[in-house]
Amino acid sequence: MMNLSTTIAGVTFPSCFMNAAGALCVTQDELESLGRSGAGAIVTKSMTIEARQGNPEPRYYGFLGGSINSMGLPNLGYKAYAELIPHLKRFGKPVIASVAGLVEDDFPTIAEFINAAGPDLIEVNLSCPNIPGKPQIGYDPEASERLLKRVRPKVTVPMGVKLPPYFDPAHHQVMGAVLGRCGVDFLSLINSVGNGLVVDPERETVVIKPKGGFGGLGGRIIKPVALANVRAFYKFFEGKMPIIGTGGIVEGIDAFEHVLCGASAVQIGTVLVEEGLDVFGRLEAELSAVLMRKGYQSIQECRGRLNEL
Ligand code: SIN
Repeated sequence: MMNLSTTIAGVTFPSCFMNAAGALCVTQDELESLGRSGAGAIVTKSMTIEARQGNPEPRYYGFLGGSINSMGLPNLGYKAYAELIPHLKRFGKPVIASVAGLVEDDFPTIAEFINAAGPDLIEVNLSCPNIPGKPQIGYDPEASERLLKRVRPKVTVPMGVKLPPYFDPAHHQVMGAVLGRCGVDFLSLINSVGNGLVVDPERETVVIKPKGGFGGLGGRIIKPVALANVRAFYKFFEGKMPIIGTGGIVEGIDAFEHVLCGASAVQIGTVLVEEGLDVFGRLEAELSAVLMRKGYQSIQECRGRLNEL
């Protein structure tokens, strides 16, 4: 197997594949299983101040083209993750703490406390679409800037931001400028495509309970949206911003596409939930085969090298 190690903001990952925040990473058991798996990092579920049960079930539904979820940030609460982090670091791979919040004040509080627990990186989630009445912060550039400028001084490890997808170049420009001003060290692109609606025509119903069936879309169907966002931010930062690509990676070749667009690592959400931890070995073998067939020695060699016509 080819060496698929990578570096994000100065931190080395033994493999470029890791779980996306949210996928099999809520409980201590799940996080330790990620530690023992082929994943190149352990990413925690986005944490809030209080432990949360999340939204009512059913709140995840997988279908042929992907998934829809409205989990509602079920998590153990930030203090529990702070306690777990030193143990998780023993698995010898980077630990990424995903920080969320229900109000702006939560973010600096959680960031400061979790930073002290010593994760290798922190990912600030500005893009949860599933809390009723709370819009995605990442769609409000002023709120995003205010929040990131409060979090930045609390964080001494590399600080990244998990963004929602944008659908217009004007929005990539505005958010790119905000991120540039806030001292962001890396980007995770993208969170689910928020507030989609999947319908079961036979039963004539929605497929998840929260928010009248609206939820975040993931999996195969969102790949072009994810690739566009990776590419747009890669170009905005002229290749100098490390990017973790997320969205629509089902096979190794999908990860290769993310790398071509500018990703230095990739996260796996829907297919990890559907297939379990063995997905990492499969994807590593498949990406290795693609690179070998094309004569590349590493992902660094082809990162961002997408040809335009
Ligand atoms: C959720 O827990 O509802 C998903 C979180 C997210 O998409 O950021």
